[in-house]
Amino acid sequence: MPHSIVIFGASGDLTSRKLVPALYSLFRGGSLPADTRIIGYSRTPMSDDAWRTSLRETTAKHAEGEPFDEKAWGEFAPRIHYQPGDIGSSADMEQLKERLAALEGAAAVTRVYYLATAPQFYEPVVGAIGALGMASEENGPRRIVVEKPFGTDLETAKRLNAQLHTVFAESQIYRIDHYLGKESVQNIIALRFANTIFEPVWNRRYIDHVQITVAEEVPVGRRGAYYDGSGVLRDMFQNHLLQLLMVTAMEAPVKYRATAVRNEKVKVLESIRAYEPAEVAEVAAAGTRGQYRGYLADPGVAPGSQTATFGAIRLEIDNWRWQGVPFYLRSGKAMSCRTTQIVIAFRQPPLELFAEGKRGMLREGNRLVIQIQPAEGIQLHFHTKVPGGGMKLRLTDLEFSYSREFKGRLPEAYEPLLLDVMTGEASLFARSDEVEKSWEIIDPFVRAWSSGGMPPIDLYEPGNWGPTSSDAWINAQGRSWFDICPVL
Ligand code: BG6
Repeated sequence: MPHSIVIFGASGDLTSRKLVPALYSLFRGGSLPADTRIIGYSRTPMSDDAWRTSLRETTAKHAEGEPFDEKAWGEFAPRIHYQPGDIGSSADMEQLKERLAALEGAAAVTRVYYLATAPQFYEPVVGAIGALGMASEENGPRRIVVEKPFGTDLETAKRLNAQLHTVFAESQIYRIDHYLGKESVQNIIALRFANTIFEPVWNRRYIDHVQITVAEEVPVGRRGAYYDGSGVLRDMFQNHLLQLLMVTAMEAPVKYRATAVRNEKVKVLESIRAYEPAEVAEVAAAGTRGQYRGYLADPGVAPGSQTATFGAIRLEIDNWRWQGVPFYLRSGKAMSCRTTQIVIAFRQPPLELFAEGKRGMLREGNRLVIQIQPAEGIQLHFHTKVPGGGMKLRLTDLEFSYSREFKGRLPEAYEPLLLDVMTGEASLFARSDEVEKSWEIIDPFVRAWSSGGMPPIDLYEPGNWGPTSSDAWINAQGRSWFDICPVL
């Protein structure tokens, strides 16, 4: 069956930086289903050709991996169409409907609506699709992809879910989190459930704690106007960090199918100890926050803003597997380097045989470090005897690296996710209850951190691992951050 991908917000950044380059890469690699067409919709008046020309330039810049292939682009470009129009105008939306009908003809088509607009346009687009009967599946499947941010808190997320459900069935809705499209994130599921050696130690008996870090070297830059109202908790924790936590902590699904996978993920969220709004002080103590020096000068940032550009929080998962094993989640902008990693920190051996007389001196425990990006791979850290006299030990590691093991480029996160939407595979997309539960967990932190009673935010110099209070906070809990930049 042919596919139509209708992109709302066609002239925006996401379309030119991620969506079209991903579709082009799929095409070049031979995996884009034959007979796929892309229809862009936004207000800028433009012809098909003008849009193709502008996309050629941006795609050449943003398609990662191999050099731009002019010939492949030449074959891909005729699939791209553009329809100018205003989301708020029913006459314009009607024209879009007619254009789609003209392009698709009478054949049954799988049609994907992609919301790549600013979030305030989600509701009007969905309303118009509903009013024009464009969600009806009489002539093939109709699906809608909703980008983040999915609401700004629990209440707005519930409202958006309710509105989507007036037009689309849950099975037609694909809430995207591009972290789940990353190869190394999907590999966590393979690591855990396609092997037998990790499962027996993947629990409170052997694991002391888990650290999930998403550090970015870049500052907020030009995105100040959006970011200042969002902050690191809404921008990164509610979605990407909690997704990483879920795949690390979930039980094995009975099948690798959307319902089974999502059920297990939601169970993790349900097991996270919830904070009541009245526990603001406790919530505040369960985390630490900071802002890089210079953030206030970024365009769009309010004078004297207390928005956190760095955050670290501790979550407890109250279930049989994880009770008593803290999950430390940390993310920030303008940090030492770009690294996303999950550290499974194992307990110490019961007896320190080699502590050289200093009883009680704990050495570093074993670690499994899952490098999500940019140096995708996995390392197992363990102690080994240094050759020579005496029992001198050193931490060393076994290492798996994607670039050494698999030649060629790793697909960009949007590539597998777009293919999944086209084929109706929803395992890597968030269900309505999953999104709402995520907000339930993050909202108390947002409220605590923005409450008047908080001391002024800690500052950190760009190029650090957040404020020094972050180290003090975790050290006070008898642990330390694993602060290593990956070797590229
Ligand atoms: C986005 C955030 O969702 O993820 C950005 O809005 C962030 O602030 C980005 O920079 C990080 O994505 P990646 O894939 O570069 O780690």
